[in-house]
Parts: sequence; C-alpha cells; structure tokens
Amino acid sequence: MKKNKHVLISGGSSGIGLALAKQFFAEGASVTIIARRKDVLLSAQHEIERQRVGPEQILDTISVDVTKFSDLSAALGKSLSNFDILINSAGIAYPGKFIDLDQKIFGEVMDVNYIGTVNLTKLIVPKMIKNKTGYIVNISSLAAVIGIYGYSAYAPSKYAVRGFSRCIRAELKSYGIDVSVVLPPDTDTPQLEFERTLLPEITHEINKKGGVLSPEKVAADIIKGMRKKKFTIIPGLEGKILYLLAPIFGRYFYHFAVKMEK
Ligand SMILES: NC(=O)c1ccc[n+]([C@@H]2O[C@H](COP(=O)([O-])OP(=O)(O)OC[C@H]3O[C@@H](n4cnc5c(N)ncnc54)[C@H](OP(=O)(O)O)[C@@H]3O)[C@@H](O)[C@H]2O)c1
Repeated sequence: MKKNKHVLISGGSSGIGLALAKQFFAEGASVTIIARRKDVLLSAQHEIERQRVGPEQILDTISVDVTKFSDLSAALGKSLSNFDILINSAGIAYPGKFIDLDQKIFGEVMDVNYIGTVNLTKLIVPKMIKNKTGYIVNISSLAAVIGIYGYSAYAPSKYAVRGFSRCIRAELKSYGIDVSVVLPPDTDTPQLEFERTLLPEITHEINKKGGVLSPEKVAADIIKGMRKKKFTIIPGLEGKILYLLAPIFGRYFYHFAVKMEK
C-alpha cells in the first residue's frame, strides 16, 4: 500500500509520529517529517534511515512550527504536490486543574493540536484535490472521548481535532481523499513522560486504571486501520472498550474524581 507513496508526518521526530515514519519507510514509502527542534529531527532522520529498503526512497526533514501558517507554507514550498498521505501528529499536552492552569496554556495547546492540524491540512489538500487522491490521518486522543479530570486544556483541543476530521471527511470524499482520526490511549513517549510531571493526583489515579502502549504498537495499529480505511482508529483493546462504553466510564470517572476530591 505504501510503496511509491510519499508520507508527510508532522511531529515525525518523536513518539508516535517517529514510529509511524519508521514503519512507513520500512514498507518502502518516502517520508518527510516536520518538527521544530533541528537536533531531534536529525537524530530521528538517522533512526528512520536505518529502515531503508530502496535507493529511490526520499527521506526529508523540515524544521518549522505548525502553528505559523506562513512559515509552514514557505517551508513546504514547491514540494506540496508530492505528498500522498498526511499524518497530523504534532501535539503537546499540558495537564493540570483548570483553576491552576495559566490562561495562556489554553490557547497554546489549542494552537498546536488543533490549529496546527488545520494549517497543514489546508496547505496539503489543494494538491491532493488536483491529484484526485490522498489520505489524511489526524491524531486525536482517547481524552476526546471522555472529558477527564485534569485535561481541561488538552482534551478540548483533541475534541476539536475529532470534529474537524468528521467535517472534512464528508467534504473531501468526492475528491478521492480519505480521512481517519486516531484515538490513542496512553502511549510511552516523551509527551507522556512530560505529562506525568504535571498530573494532578486524581488524574494520576484515573490514568493508572488503564495500560500504556508502545509507540510501535500504536503506529502498527494506525497503519492496519488505514489499510481498511477505517474512519475512527483506536489502537489497542482497552481503548476500543472505553470508546464503546464511554457513557458508563464517563459517569464512573466523574463520580470517582468527585469522591476523591472530598
Ligand atoms: N503519548 C500519548 O500518551 C498520547 C495519547 C493520545 C494522543 N497522543 C497524541 O499523539 C500525538 C503524538 O504525541 P507523542 O506522544 O508522540 O508526542 P511527542 O513524542 O512529544 O512528539 C510530539 C512531536 O510533535 C512535535 N511538535 C510539537 N509542537 C510542535 C509545533 N508547534 N510545530 C511542529 N512540531 C511540533 C515535536 O517536535 P518539536 O517539539 O521539536 O517541535 C515532536 O516531534 C500528539 O498529537 C499527542 O497529543 C499522545
């Protein structure tokens, strides 16, 4: 499926995005990754390069901030027509109690997770329409299924990504473009490590009830879901159960948090 395809991955220098980049590259695809930090991009490039299966594969890195539309547009430049698959994985998480979080955090998280996704999609879609083919995969989160204590900045940005994906899915279908939205559970990445330094005690107790997947497992499940052209891709079994039983779990986590707060 991925041979001769060019995959553009925002957040491809780390975690889930990097695991996806390696798996796509190992399948023979060309890969371009986007992130801000040049040193991290470079070490990711070395890791991805080790998966090479053919001399014709392109491997490129772009250092740019996805929240800055004009910088992003300039950085992508003429290469826009080359991308068959876009994965919006760039993201940040900033947990904390609503009353403790600085007001500016809400805008920052929304900017990267939601506006960053919109920006890149806006730039890539016109060429996909011209080519009459394309696949856009937006990484949301299981946090966008149940509003969990401690995620008042992060979860709404991921609900926005789900809503956006649902709207453009219908709009783009007639142009030959498919859309998927991914709802990963806790995944062992630098983001999760950072999150854990900020988690309120109650959020920590809630999160302990679920397991943690490896980024490789999450990436493999995403690619499997893409092969089947599934709209909602939920890596791992626990996540699927949580998604299906969301009304029950939502009530349970609410009462659990309220009880612990007392
Ligand atoms: N890990 C989890 O438990 C989990 C669970 C559910 C959903 N997710 C979602 O999955 C996606 C990947 O997360 P991850 O855990 O793999 O995180 P990660 O390891 O921290 O990687 C995040 C990537 O995004 C890039 N990035 C962040 N802000 C950016 C910006 N403004 N412009 C361009 N690139 C930016 C980072 O590079 P630079 O910092 O160098 O820019 C990095 O490459 C995120 O959308 C996250 O919210 C993660």
